[in-house]
Amino acid sequence: MIIAIDGPAAAGKGTLARRIAEAYGYHHLDTGLTYRATAKALLDAGLPLDDEAIAEGMARKVDLAGLDRAVLSRHEIGEAASKIAVMPTVRTALREMQQKFAQKEPGAVLDGRDIGTVVCPDAPVKLYVTASAEVRAKRRYEEIVEAGGSADYDAIFEDVKRRDERDMGRTDSPLKPAEDAHLLDTSEMSIEAAFQTAKSIIDAALSRNA
Ligand code: DC
Repeated sequence: MIIAIDGPAAAGKGTLARRIAEAYGYHHLDTGLTYRATAKALLDAGLPLDDEAIAEGMARKVDLAGLDRAVLSRHEIGEAASKIAVMPTVRTALREMQQKFAQKEPGAVLDGRDIGTVVCPDAPVKLYVTASAEVRAKRRYEEIVEAGGSADYDAIFEDVKRRDERDMGRTDSPLKPAEDAHLLDTSEMSIEAAFQTAKSIIDAALSRNA
């Protein structure tokens, strides 16, 4: 079973993906972390973010077992990740790893931007999780404040919009819902409600496959 979850930054797809993986006993891969790990390796080595051959070399060295969410979630790493994510050879290198991961038994949940459209176009379950830019910025703002940090809502809002433009506007594998994806707008939905909706879609797919 492969469950593909796509959507813009801060829409809640990661939380939903983890919840689904836990409930069904499936493996989970946050594919954003693979782009982030590539970007971090370049930043750490003091290498440029605009040299595709160098970035591809780093992408090929990414170890899926060593992805550390706490370290990779830093804001500047996300920005750098979104820049190198426009490079086709970087995407090919990471896509190959992601496709291999998707074959894990008894099932895999992958979340990202192009899982239902490009990485796993034959996934039996595809969810496109979204929320308004205002709601996503507010969630990110509250997350930072609750963790004891200080944040500027307007700056986060601008950031969310800029990231959307970059992710949706690139030529290679832009962010968009697959034609057969179920749309889940979480603007006014709790994570629990989103999970219950996803669960009924997954259960229907499992009984079709049985
Ligand atoms: O979901 P995230 O913020 O961790 O993703 C970081 C960047 O990685 C995002 O701006 C675009 C890129 N990305 C991508 O291009 N394709 C994916 N499947 C996942 C992430």
